[in-house]
Amino acid sequence: MARTGFPDDLYGDLVSSGPGGAAAKRLGLPVPPRLRRYAPGQEFLTGPAVVLRAGAAPVADDVAVWLAAAGAHVLADLDAAGDERLGAVVVDATAARRVEDLGRLRELLAPAFRRTARNGRVLLLGAVPAEAGEGPGGVEARAVQQGLDGLVRSLAKEARGGTTVNLLRVAEGAGGALRSPVEFLCSARAAFVSGQPLLVGPAPAVPAAAPGRERRVAVVTGAARGIGAAIAEVLAREGAHVVCADVAAAGEQLARVANRVRGSALTLDVTAADAPRVLAEHLRRRFGGADVVVHNAGITRDRSFVNLDAEAWDSVLGVNLAAPLRLTEGLLGTDGALAPGARFVCLSSINGLAGAKGQANYAASKAGLVGFVQALAGPLAQRGMAVNAVAPGFIETPMTAAMPPVPREVGRRASSLQQGGLPVDVAEAVAWLASPGAGGIDGQVLRVCGQHLTGA
Ligand SMILES: NC(=O)c1ccc[n+]([C@@H]2O[C@H](COP(=O)([O-])OP(=O)(O)OC[C@H]3O[C@@H](n4cnc5c(N)ncnc54)[C@H](O)[C@@H]3O)[C@@H](O)[C@H]2O)c1
Repeated sequence: MARTGFPDDLYGDLVSSGPGGAAAKRLGLPVPPRLRRYAPGQEFLTGPAVVLRAGAAPVADDVAVWLAAAGAHVLADLDAAGDERLGAVVVDATAARRVEDLGRLRELLAPAFRRTARNGRVLLLGAVPAEAGEGPGGVEARAVQQGLDGLVRSLAKEARGGTTVNLLRVAEGAGGALRSPVEFLCSARAAFVSGQPLLVGPAPAVPAAAPGRERRVAVVTGAARGIGAAIAEVLAREGAHVVCADVAAAGEQLARVANRVRGSALTLDVTAADAPRVLAEHLRRRFGGADVVVHNAGITRDRSFVNLDAEAWDSVLGVNLAAPLRLTEGLLGTDGALAPGARFVCLSSINGLAGAKGQANYAASKAGLVGFVQALAGPLAQRGMAVNAVAPGFIETPMTAAMPPVPREVGRRASSLQQGGLPVDVAEAVAWLASPGAGGIDGQVLRVCGQHLTGA
């Protein structure tokens, strides 16, 4: 990794130095901010936090307590900040129902937004528009809550210096399930998540771990390199035993990753006819079931739609979509293959949300995963399990290093954070969705893309 924190990004490296940065500014070229990522023992925030109340603000008090418990210095109000820049600004707008409420929100937020520190966090808390829109005055209430979406996406584009802006829509009865999403989005773990709405619902009761089971067990497909290897590392850091799965041809790399994370390696081609049975039996026999399943293995075979032959189509749909479906079915159908409360996380892509030239096969597979997650969430919730997807944007991996230079440079600059993300950014989001605290998030797609223009 480069010393400056812009690995494989020569331009980012150049302009992050004093003279390079000054020259880029003079020429009106982008100067990507250096993002603050998670490091053990670091401060939770880059400055004090303030929790603003837009109206009745029913969750503000809890949020202030949670932020303080996570290590934030929570100020009584904005005036208490003195000259200090703010590490986090959280606004409880869950009670906003009238157009005038948005005006009051602007008055409240603008002075605080102006004073965010580098790598600061701005988090708006809203209601779920459909819930706010029930009863008399419902249409206006729903419109106002939807308005928060445009506000957040715009502020994320205006934010400077690595500051992120996100929206949590708090469903009725979400209660304590809001805590973990607030902590995650305010933390350095969410450095590449911005301009995102996410819905938080009530968390299902967490089933008791089986007696004698000390560590959670996670399986990650495609773990030999890139994003999969980073996911294995972060899950291990968070205390899980990670079963790292990949094809036989990746054997040496796979063994290295498994050793590094003190997990275990499993040779598995996810498209093999017996893969569902092999995986389910492995997890049942060796571990008494998996707590976390990450469908990460993915491939591209890019070419224009008319030039896509059956091989290029079938291989991409086979690895990226059919395999997660079949593996999940096999795991759900095998008693003991999954631990109570298991979490699934799928790797989608912003190109699946927006479409991409030359990637009709890939985009179909990645959009298919979104449908998969949405369809599976309800039935899984009845079994106390959850499933979500992460949609990475431009991430610096061997996959994107293989792109031609011009599209690669355009791709990495076309986000509000003006740089490619790192595999660890995706891994942090996956590990958070897989964590016990994230129980209020289900059937959703979390973009990890620095608010990329694609599919925004
Ligand atoms: N890199 C990005 O910018 C980006 C953006 C959006 C989404 N994604 C998605 O994230 C995931 C990981 O991407 P990456 O960039 O790390 O890719 P990568 O090519 O670096 O790694 C993919 C891994 O999957 C493994 N794999 C491929 N086919 C397999 C099979 N049949 N069975 C088991 N393992 C198999 C490969 O051996 C490899 O280790 C993919 O699903 C990809 O589509 C990546």
